[in-house]
Amino acid sequence: MTDKDVIILGIESSCDDTSAAILKNGKILANCVATQDLHKAYGGVVPEVASRAHQISIVPVVSQALEQANIDKSALTAIAVTRGPGLLGSLLVGLSFAKGMALSLNIPLIEINHMQAHVLAHFIEEPKPQFPFLCLTVSGGHTQIVRVRGPLEMEVIGTTIDDAAGEAFDKTGKMLGLDYPAGPVIDKLAQQGIPRFEFPEPKVKALDFSFSGLKTSILYFLKRELKENPDFITENLNDICASVQIRIVSYLMNKLRKASAETGITEIAVAGGVSANSELRKQLTATGVELGWNTYVPKIEYCTDNAAMIACAAQFKYEKGEFVGQDIVPLSRYAM
Ligand code: KG4
Ligand code: ZN
Repeated sequence: MTDKDVIILGIESSCDDTSAAILKNGKILANCVATQDLHKAYGGVVPEVASRAHQISIVPVVSQALEQANIDKSALTAIAVTRGPGLLGSLLVGLSFAKGMALSLNIPLIEINHMQAHVLAHFIEEPKPQFPFLCLTVSGGHTQIVRVRGPLEMEVIGTTIDDAAGEAFDKTGKMLGLDYPAGPVIDKLAQQGIPRFEFPEPKVKALDFSFSGLKTSILYFLKRELKENPDFITENLNDICASVQIRIVSYLMNKLRKASAETGITEIAVAGGVSANSELRKQLTATGVELGWNTYVPKIEYCTDNAAMIACAAQFKYEKGEFVGQDIVPLSRYAM
């Protein structure tokens, strides 16, 4: 270790994943995640359960990250933590822990906007997008198109007015009797299916999204079909999954095409848990070839909630000396 080494501990606890990562001189040495499987029993994230689970996991996860990176905590240069947006009780666990640790080590504390971090996950590894670029961030909690002018210069140009894209997958899965989170299950079943059922494309202005109408049309469709044939879901599961998936993905892609056309930006990035979706990846590649886009999707471990993206985002703030005091509070809503 030299005096010039910059070693950042990143901490993420905004939803149901407790994560800690170590970034040394711009390189990720460890990215540990404790995923809370106990929400499966409830079919969704239960805030109180999540914050209690964070309390149990935070110390072991941070220790594991330090151990894996072979870094002693005394060598840390700064601690970065998600301030929001997210579940207040969950955020509070990570933020309190980070404050305490920064205070005891007498090192700077850096606060990070979780949605900015999803975008900056593209800077963890090569290939990195060129500025300006557009980022479609699609997860269980968010659906946004972000215009990124610089590392910390971002503007949301499209967002969902109700459910997130991941929620659309998860809620459809619930109707079909699939386990939570249903996105990966629907993706897998859809590969065996034919998208022969048609659902209308939601109509929302400009670059915004809406998924609640789609959810209702799927519900009515299933009710109608089940009245005729009580085994409709089991007999057509793969085709239903393929149909829902293609509807959601085509909708995301149509908005992304529109955003690119309107801004003239052809550097296109995708982030968030839903970017694991195989149909989305397929359509992104095909559209990229068709329209001459350069497309970027980070490794899946950097797409889902993780602390590597928090540490990576912190690096940009560290360089500018943007530190915060012990008085900061978590923010359930936190604009970019
Ligand atoms: O980013 P993430 O891990 O957590 C947050 O919500 O912040 O995203 C989780 C979401 C869930 O809604 C899950 O169903 C969805 O991402 N997801 C997928 C796939 N893998 C995860 N959705 C569609 N296809 C997938 N392969
Ligand atoms: Zn997230």
